[in-house]
Amino acid sequence: MLEWFAIDLIKQAGEYIRLQIDESYRIERKTGKGDLVTEIDRAVEQLIVDQIRESYPEHHIIGEEGISTQPDDLSGTVWFVDPIDGTLNFIHQKRMFAISIAVMVDGVVEYGFVYDVMADELFVARRGVGATLNGRKLPMIQEHHVRDAFLSMNATWVTPNQQIAPEVLAPIVRDSVGTRAHGAASLELAWLAAGRVDGYITMRNMPWDYAAGKLLVEEVGGRVASIYGEPVRYDGKTSVLAGSETFVKDVVKHYVIAKGATPEVKPDLQIGINESYDRVRDLLVLANPNEAMVRDQYKAGTTYEPCSAGNVSGHICSSHAASR
Ligand code: IPD
Ligand code: CA
Ligand code: CA
Repeated sequence: MLEWFAIDLIKQAGEYIRLQIDESYRIERKTGKGDLVTEIDRAVEQLIVDQIRESYPEHHIIGEEGISTQPDDLSGTVWFVDPIDGTLNFIHQKRMFAISIAVMVDGVVEYGFVYDVMADELFVARRGVGATLNGRKLPMIQEHHVRDAFLSMNATWVTPNQQIAPEVLAPIVRDSVGTRAHGAASLELAWLAAGRVDGYITMRNMPWDYAAGKLLVEEVGGRVASIYGEPVRYDGKTSVLAGSETFVKDVVKHYVIAKGATPEVKPDLQIGINESYDRVRDLLVLANPNEAMVRDQYKAGTTYEPCSAGNVSGHICSSHAASR
């Protein structure tokens, strides 16, 4: 059965990470000093992809490190895999990172698995059945307004950034009970499902970051939307606003819309697929001067083109990204 297969797989992957964490490993920059990948990330994704392929050869896999071939669309069964969510925590703190796996069937996420490797906490969600933590059912979450919510949110979003005006989210930090930046999206959503935080806000997540955690939150009665209160997308980057229904509505109405930050003013980017290496070469080499490696990665994976108002604003090449 798929659920037991996935649980066994995620635990094996966790065991592998625990064995490797104190060994030396190679670290590479992706877009900058805060966006890193290690050879452990890649090895874990390989381990997971190999086993899914062996047991479910007809399924598709979308992994952060681009080990598998990305499908053209989200039909059939698609696995979203983040081999280490919270790579910076993994490198610097050796804790507070997770393996995140979600299984989507014909466009609907049916299973979500988030494994906090060092705490040995496994969060599992099955659509319509509920969510568990190490086998124990999680209760429904409490309704919270911003004023009585304890939040998880990265400080990036209240300093000048490309996604949202800092004054939109800064008042939430002021008004809430407190904010913490945990640095692992899947875990922050899992903790929300477990009632350890009351909300999670980010302006930049990919489906492998939030797909599993989103189902966990929904299975305990919470809501996960874009910062504008719209459904999140699974075909590219999105903002994520998660919490109880009350919390999400409060943020959208009294902070985001009140400050005029509607999608018309600041649209989430559209993502297209690039088909010309010559067109992206210069930009990708800015992020990684090793052109041979860049070309290999380009050939091995898919290069996405974020586009806003018809203008291409950067390129994301499998495990490798650059932006202007
Ligand atoms: C990142 C973490 C981080 C979130 C970023 C993600 P990674 O994942 O989840 O908390 O803010 O958006 O990319 O790169 O460590 O797998
Ligand atoms: Ca991640
Ligand atoms: Ca990752």
